[in-house]
Amino acid sequence: MNRLKLLFLTILTLITSGPLAAGDQANRAKALIAKQQGIAVEAQRWMISAANPLAVEAGAQVLAKGGSAADAMVAAQAVLGLVEPQSSGLGGGAFLVWYDAASGQMTTLDGRETAPLAATPRLFQDDNGKPLSFFEAVVGGRSVGVPATPLLMQEAHARWGNASWPELLEPARKLAQDGFVVSERLARSIKLDAERLAIAPDTAAYFLPDGQPLQAGEILKNPGYAETLENMAKNGAAVFYSGPLAKKIVARVQSAANPGVLELVDLAIYRIKERPAVCVDYHANQVCGMGPPSSGALTVGQILKLVEPYDLAALGKDSAQSWRLIGDATRLAFADRGRYMADMDFVPVPVRGLLDAGYLATRSGLLGTDKALGKVAAGQPEYDHGVLLGEDISIEFPSTSHISIVDSHGNALSMTTTVENIFGSRLMVGGFLLNNELTDFSFTSHNNGWPIANRVEPGKRPRSSMSPTIVLRDGKPVLVIGSPGGSRIIGFVAQTLIAHLDWGMDIQQAISMPRLVNRFGTYEVEDSAFGTVMAPQLEALGFKVKQKAITSGLHGISIGKGLKGGADPRREGIVLGQ
Ligand code: GLY
Repeated sequence: MNRLKLLFLTILTLITSGPLAAGDQANRAKALIAKQQGIAVEAQRWMISAANPLAVEAGAQVLAKGGSAADAMVAAQAVLGLVEPQSSGLGGGAFLVWYDAASGQMTTLDGRETAPLAATPRLFQDDNGKPLSFFEAVVGGRSVGVPATPLLMQEAHARWGNASWPELLEPARKLAQDGFVVSERLARSIKLDAERLAIAPDTAAYFLPDGQPLQAGEILKNPGYAETLENMAKNGAAVFYSGPLAKKIVARVQSAANPGVLELVDLAIYRIKERPAVCVDYHANQVCGMGPPSSGALTVGQILKLVEPYDLAALGKDSAQSWRLIGDATRLAFADRGRYMADMDFVPVPVRGLLDAGYLATRSGLLGTDKALGKVAAGQPEYDHGVLLGEDISIEFPSTSHISIVDSHGNALSMTTTVENIFGSRLMVGGFLLNNELTDFSFTSHNNGWPIANRVEPGKRPRSSMSPTIVLRDGKPVLVIGSPGGSRIIGFVAQTLIAHLDWGMDIQQAISMPRLVNRFGTYEVEDSAFGTVMAPQLEALGFKVKQKAITSGLHGISIGKGLKGGADPRREGIVLGQ
């Protein structure tokens, strides 16, 4: 490295490491530089990492005043739904993992959208029982599940918030009223999706004014969103579940070109569910996350337990054998995920069996070779109850967003939040987009005569891959992490955990490193110098390899002597902390 470059990097390190508090444009710029340079942001008291600087700023303002991580999430999510509507929002759903400093307890909340009571296993089939194509199913009212994010925000605030609810919604309301700058990523998403966004007139009017996609840098106002937030500030999340707004949601879904069967009763009976956290011991750590209906924690947990007997720390990240183990462990875990994991209020998911030490030891033993495995199939975990199920054939596309927060009281929050596909169902009500989460169900109800766990059923929640995670050591949180990315989320999170916990990479390095994911037999290797080195080695081990662009969106915080935060350079997010 020449001396000038070294000097530049040294200065950069001095200005970018250390705390980056709220309320300062220059700090946002520094945070972006830090991320691009692969330098973790450091702080002592609180920290937030999420996918858009305006949302991070809103959360940081709350944290700086002593607000809790739940308060900051409410402020950040309200802004995310406005400025990153392609990924998450008030018309979507989320899963939240909470570590409570006062009690030392971990709580997981299920804010997953739910199928209407009138939905049947044939929701996504034509009159002849043939599955619809993905976008035939997505665009319109058919794919819309009961929105859950507003109630999850309120539930988290009621349990763990200490700031004023209307004040938390105010920054987003003001941005919606006064306008915000359309980001590069939002503009790119609109351009890519222009044809589908044009299908609903009010969606087209918002994203394609005068028939043209909004451009990056334009100021965009959303008076409908401002009004919805004002209503939510005054009357709570209840406004989404009964009354005029609920009626508008139902009317929008039922009158769409591809109508859905959502009714007022579905909204009225919607509840956030507290679920038991799913945790695995991994070396000296306890890795905890969201259980069914998310497959996240179970599948991430299985991957970690399958590789644990092998010494990944000694092998290191440059060894193709490390990636063989991770890749085939992921395939084995995905085979179990496909067969067994779904909403456990409807399907007897063998959670204990899937994480049973003896079962995992047998599965892990399959990796005791030095070549890629051939065909991989689901195992036979000991059942919690009898269950006979077919192989899964769900389609999943990436979108979604993730927020990680640690507050000055020592609480930690990890929340992955989504409208499913980019711009969800493409239907808008009250300035926000309605989700298409129901397409996370399998379109087919049976395979070879066996029922598929993740088939559509009335009142059921579609299986998710979202993996909001908190890692504990000696009962205290040491890492908060999660990502968007459809079912690749699981691979992104597992890889980042291994990079940080086994290979000692700091949180930003672990987030920035090239992604390698093997879910179903093809090893997807991110276009990068590292990928180009690794791809032929993996092929030599017997893997089918595909090099491609891979867009994870990891946002994480590690907790040690102080806090260190990382934001994914593949997206627009930043870290702020103090
Ligand atoms: N819709 C993305 C997920 O739930 O995994």
